Amino acid sequence: MATSIRDAAPADLTAITAIYAHAVHHGTASFELSPPDEAEMARRREVLIAGGYPYIVALRDDRIAGYAYASAYRPRPAYRFTVEDSVYVDPAFQGQGVGRALLTALIEICEARGFRRMIAVIGDTQSHGSIALHRALGFAHIGTIPALGYKHDAWRDTVLMHRPLSEGDTTPPA
Ligand SMILES: CC(C)(COP(=O)(O)OP(=O)(O)OC[C@H]1O[C@@H](n2cnc3c(N)ncnc32)[C@H](O)[C@@H]1OP(=O)(O)O)[C@@H](O)C(=O)NCCC(=O)NCCS
Repeated sequence: MATSIRDAAPADLTAITAIYAHAVHHGTASFELSPPDEAEMARRREVLIAGGYPYIVALRDDRIAGYAYASAYRPRPAYRFTVEDSVYVDPAFQGQGVGRALLTALIEICEARGFRRMIAVIGDTQSHGSIALHRALGFAHIGTIPALGYKHDAWRDTVLMHRPLSEGDTTPPA
């Protein structure tokens, strides 16, 4: 089954909100404890797009199978060439290459927009799928911060990974 990628549109937000709600309720990728409603998800998307960051969806047979976006790693201006990625795939479509397709596209768009480094901030050492996805796309392990969050009745680590985008730090940014 082919996966197609395009920019997210307002009409996709119902599906995106449901995918994220499932991840918030059942996983540790996000350290949010209560899922945001659709209006809040729409607001967050608009802020990212206004800031020049990509927000994309993956489709399988016209169904939203997952979404991804890049955001500022940290807000202070010297970080402006560094993005953090977020990727969420509907459980019905996990393990079928959707996450790889989304992250590959996100990297390409961020490179075209002049960003130089992508950081993955991965909730919990048990997030094997996320760690494997990032490793498969060239991310190197930076380190693990222990017990940075408390969710689902346990302390949760944060795994940090990174990869250069285009010329990385070998040249000054344009
Ligand atoms: C992590 C996630 C985005 C991966 O997306 P996916 O569509 O399931 O992953 P893919 O099928 O594209 O697999 C990508 C790679 O990771 C590997 N992988 C995926 N899930 C895995 C798992 N549970 N254990 C080990 N490896 C796994 C695959 O083997 C594949 O490697 P390859 O392409 O070299 O064969 C998805 O599982 C998800 O949404 N999880 C919940 C939310 C989350 O953790 N998001 C990340 C937040 S940054």
